[in-house]
Amino acid sequence: MDTHLAFHFAPEDCAAGETKAAPRLHLGVCGSIAAYRALDLVRQWQDAGFGVSVTLTPASMDFVGALSFEALGASPVYTAMSGDARVSTPFPHLEPGQNACAMIIAPASAATISRLAQGAADALLACQALAFRGPLVLAPAMNPAMWEHPAVQANVARLCSRGCTLVPPGLGRTACGELGRGRMADLRLVYLAGLRAALPKDLAGVKALVTLGPTREQWDGVRFWTNASTGVMGASLALALWLRGAEVHAVCGPGTPWLPAAEDMPDAPLYRYSVTSAREMFAAASDLWPEMDAGLFTAAVADYSPVPNGPEKFKKSDAPDGFDLHFAPNPDILKTLAASRRQVRPQKVMGFAAESGNLQDAVRGKLYAKQADMLVGNLLSDGFATSSDRVFVADRMGREESWPQLPKPSIAWRLVSWLASL
Ligand code: CTP
Repeated sequence: MDTHLAFHFAPEDCAAGETKAAPRLHLGVCGSIAAYRALDLVRQWQDAGFGVSVTLTPASMDFVGALSFEALGASPVYTAMSGDARVSTPFPHLEPGQNACAMIIAPASAATISRLAQGAADALLACQALAFRGPLVLAPAMNPAMWEHPAVQANVARLCSRGCTLVPPGLGRTACGELGRGRMADLRLVYLAGLRAALPKDLAGVKALVTLGPTREQWDGVRFWTNASTGVMGASLALALWLRGAEVHAVCGPGTPWLPAAEDMPDAPLYRYSVTSAREMFAAASDLWPEMDAGLFTAAVADYSPVPNGPEKFKKSDAPDGFDLHFAPNPDILKTLAASRRQVRPQKVMGFAAESGNLQDAVRGKLYAKQADMLVGNLLSDGFATSSDRVFVADRMGREESWPQLPKPSIAWRLVSWLASL
C-alpha cells in the first residue's frame, strides 16, 4: 500500500445512517480472473478500519473460494441464497443492506451488470443490490469486445444514471490475451472508490487547490536544483479532501505520488497538473486560485533558482578552478495568493513549514507573515520525507495543538477537519 493511501478511519468518521451503525463494506465478487484481486481489497479496507462482508457468485468460486475470504477475516461470506451453513441470517438477500454502508462489486461481470440494470432478482448478489439503499460502486472486468458491446454499455449507462459509481476497466492486455479496455481497474482506484462511497461528503461543493512535492530548477542541460520533498503529505491531503467530496486541483512537482487521474474516476474527477519549476507551479496555482474555496500549500517550493547557464551541458573544461552560481528569487506562491484572496467568501489558506529551530515560534511567525488561516509545522530533526510525522498546528483564532507521531494520511484527515471548522 502506498504511504499516502494508508488511511485509517474511526467509526465516527464513517457515514453512519440510522440503521447502518457498523462501518462495514460489502464486496460482491463475480466470475473473472480478477476475482483473486478482491482478496487484497478485503485486507486494504480492513486496514482502513472497515469490516468487510463478501458475496461470491457461483462463477467467482471457480476462481476463488469462500475460505480464502474467511481466512482474511471477511464476515459474513455469502455463497448461496439458502442452505448456506456459513451464515446465520434467514435473510441473506437483505442483511448487507441493513448493515453495510456501501456495496462494491469488484470484479463486476457482464452478467451481474445486466441483472442489476434490469432489476433482476434471480441471483443472490443481484438481490442484495436491489435491497441496498446505500451507495453502489462497480468495477467491471471482462473481455474488451464484451465491454465495448452496446448492450453492456447501455446497462452501465443505466446504472450510472441511477447514481451508481463506475470505476472503468483499465487499458492493457486481458487474461485472454487481447489488448484493449476490459481488465479490472488498478486496485488503488477500487480501494479509494469504496472508501469514498462509505465516507460522509461534508466537503461537497468545495473546490480546493493543493500544491505538493518539490520543484526542480534547471541550471544547464542536465543539472538542476531541488530538494528531498516526496509530496506524500500533499497527496494525502488531496485524497482526504477528495474522499470527503471536495473537487480537488492538485498542482504537483516532479516525482510526486500517484493520484487517480481525472478519467479514472469519471463521477468525481481529481484534477492533477504536473509542473516542474517554482514559476510553473506559481502560474498553474494562480490560474486556478480565483475559482477555489481553499488552498493547501504543502509544496517545498525552491525559494531561489540558479540563473540558467543554457540548454547545453556545462563542461568541466569551462571552469577548471570551480565557479560561483548566482541564484534569483522565485515568487512566494502561498504569500502571493493569500494576499489576493477574494473579498467575498475569501479562500481558506493552510500553509506548512519544515523548521530546524524553534518550531512553535516559526509556525506562529509564518502564520501571520504569510496571512494563512492555519499553519502546520514539523521539525527537520524528526525526519524529512518520512511516512509519519509529529506536527505543531496553529490557527488565526489562537488555537494551537501539538500532535503525537502519526501517519501522514491520519494527519491529513485531521487537518482537513480543522480547516473545515474555520
Ligand atoms: N511557499 C510557497 N512558495 C515559496 C516558498 C514557500 O508557496 N516560494 C509556501 C510553502 O508551500 C509552505 C510555506 O510557504 O506552505 C512555508 O514555506 P517555507 O519553505 O517553510 O518558508 P519560506 O517562506 O520559504 O521561508 P524560509 O525558507 O526562510 O523558512
